[in-house]
Amino acid sequence: MTPLLQIKDLHAEVAGKKILNGVDLTIGKGEVHAIMGPNGSGKSTLAYVLAGKPDYEVTAGEVLLNGADVLAMDPDERAAAGLFLAFQYPMEIPGVSTMTFLRSAMNAQRKKRGEAELSSPDVLRRVREEAGMLGIDPEMLRRPVNVGFSGGEKKRAETLQMSLLEPRLCVLDETDSGLDIDALKVVADGVNRLRSKERSMIVITHYQRLLNYIVPDVVHVFSKGRVVRTGGKELALELEANGYAGYLEEAA
Ligand SMILES: Nc1ncnc2c1ncn2[C@@H]1O[C@H](COP(=O)(O)OP(=O)(O)OP(=O)(O)O)[C@@H](O)[C@H]1O
Ligand SMILES: [Mg+2]
Repeated sequence: MTPLLQIKDLHAEVAGKKILNGVDLTIGKGEVHAIMGPNGSGKSTLAYVLAGKPDYEVTAGEVLLNGADVLAMDPDERAAAGLFLAFQYPMEIPGVSTMTFLRSAMNAQRKKRGEAELSSPDVLRRVREEAGMLGIDPEMLRRPVNVGFSGGEKKRAETLQMSLLEPRLCVLDETDSGLDIDALKVVADGVNRLRSKERSMIVITHYQRLLNYIVPDVVHVFSKGRVVRTGGKELALELEANGYAGYLEEAA
């Protein structure tokens, strides 16, 4: 069976600085992989490169989603192909209500896939239903995207967006940062509801705690722009106990 995601010897730089140094990563359908690693090791950069953020230049390597060349696609084509990135620092969009934003995101993606657009009442129903499950106050949907949202509210809003877009590959960049324990559970439940045989996830996190709720199939340690170790979920416990010191030397 073709893996959902294959990253082969990926190298990338930002502003002339080499950040990814040969990332190799293969994710099967339905699998959840955690990526852990020290600050500045390139985890967010990997997420940005996957999403096609401008200014991130790929200098070598390959990324295949379901066998298709991701690096040849525009960011909106990547989204239509089923890639979703939940940002470490979600963007604020003044002047655009969250509901309007969600409706355009859902319909833009459907259009790109050649599917019929959803009617406004259909969008409203779906959004309200998902928002309810994530404990999002309907009042928030009228507010401009992420503007003035608390850290936890932003993370819930990202999870809402993700549930509505039904991606094939979700990349969650520190979705747990800034969440209180209750919010962590709500977001983790939201993510777990999305787990399926067809959908895979990359969960970037610093904390073993999140992985108690979103239990990964595979854990990778990232250091200096590449994967330096891969193991099962017990690897996260080992990191929590011992830190990254050993890996920093290994990658040097
Ligand atoms: N636009 C940029 N210009 C210069 N350096 C950059 C730029 N963007 C990222 N970097 C550098 O790339 C390195 C990797 O950053 P990245 O955000 O990917 O790390 P990270 O592993 O996600 O860290 P954290 O755990 O703190 O989120 C850092 O040293 C960062 O300063
Ligand atoms: Mg980061």
